[in-house]
Amino acid sequence: MRFFATCSRGSEGALRAELAALRLPAVRGGRGGVAFDGRLEHGAKACLHSRTAMRVLLELADYPVDGAAALYDGARAVDWTPWLTERTTLAVETSGTAPGLEHSGFAALKVKDAVVDVLRDRLGARPDVDPRNPDVPIVLHLAGGRATLSLDLAGEPLHRRGWRTTATVAPLKETLAAAVLLLGRVDPAAPFVDPLCGSGTLAIEQALRARRIPPGLDRAFAFQRWPCYRTELQSRWDRLRAQARAEILPAAPAPILARDLHPKAIDACRRHAHLAGVEADLSIERADARDLVPSTAPGTICTNPPYGERLMGDAGAPGDRAAARTQERKLEGFYRGLAEMLDRHAGWAAVLLSGNPALQRAIGRRAEIDHRLWNGPLEAHLLRYRL
Ligand SMILES: C[S@@+](CC[C@H](N)C(=O)[O-])C[C@H]1O[C@@H](n2cnc3c(N)ncnc32)[C@H](O)[C@@H]1O
Repeated sequence: MRFFATCSRGSEGALRAELAALRLPAVRGGRGGVAFDGRLEHGAKACLHSRTAMRVLLELADYPVDGAAALYDGARAVDWTPWLTERTTLAVETSGTAPGLEHSGFAALKVKDAVVDVLRDRLGARPDVDPRNPDVPIVLHLAGGRATLSLDLAGEPLHRRGWRTTATVAPLKETLAAAVLLLGRVDPAAPFVDPLCGSGTLAIEQALRARRIPPGLDRAFAFQRWPCYRTELQSRWDRLRAQARAEILPAAPAPILARDLHPKAIDACRRHAHLAGVEADLSIERADARDLVPSTAPGTICTNPPYGERLMGDAGAPGDRAAARTQERKLEGFYRGLAEMLDRHAGWAAVLLSGNPALQRAIGRRAEIDHRLWNGPLEAHLLRYRL
């Protein structure tokens, strides 16, 4: 079987390394994700362990299309009975276009018709569509005159680990935070500090990683609703989870410190760490990032500083140039304060996800890693410095 794990742009290298370390067969890089081969249990293993994948797709068909009839015929040729019954619900999500298939809703309808017709012929009844919470999410991708039909193994995207309950300003996705830790070569067994922790994403991901807690251990996956799950996968899945559980360390091997100036961020971080099961691994403090001094053996300062807007919540009206300039100066001053704080940490590493070149200028050192990553639509730089 062919699988494709998707990730945020720029994280492909981290995802490839993760999937190769899981010893999945034939791992190969792609754009926006990484392909691999294997059996169902390999796809399930990626869902259980990958910290950077957003989705894991199982490819069922890939064929040329020149219009609606070809799209329908290709989907009709797939045996859908291992994946759906007349009692499961489905939804089709479309990306891309092909000739005669410019409207995603129309293309999705053609695939849905084909799936329903196959099941009606084979089982004598048809499944229902549930666009919001389908048992089986089907993914149609149209590009280069071809249609690719896949099943989404996870359902709810993998960055939803289940612990984020509280909204804060500009939180990182859990999968992007994990990519920052991996691409920035953050040592899971050395001291870790995020002095601008916000909702705690980087510190919590570091704790989960340091304790070897797999991100998918306690969540439900769409593949568990497939008819073939019970017959082919369940016992193997139970074993994979039991093995993973046995490898969890009782505590993080080194201190993890999360700080932020804002009480709401501190509350959210504490709540999230509790729900993620790593509260005891984190020290959470309210303090100004610029006042940080080393309090442990050298490790990594890893953080995602504010990019500009809403730094201290006082940007002027849109188009107000004077207010924008004041804000910019204030931000430059803030970055200088952060750079001085880094200067006090000789022997440490700093791993920063920055969306503003002024931060690099303030630090004034040469980064040993400078890697482009996308934080949603925002381009950011992952920078690693040896201090
Ligand atoms: C971009 S957000 C970090 C988001 C975080 N990575 C997350 O995933 O939730 C930047 C954080 O810096 C905090 N902050 C701003 N000025 C600060 C200061 N002087 N000292 C400490 N924290 C500060 C803000 O409260 C905010 O939570």
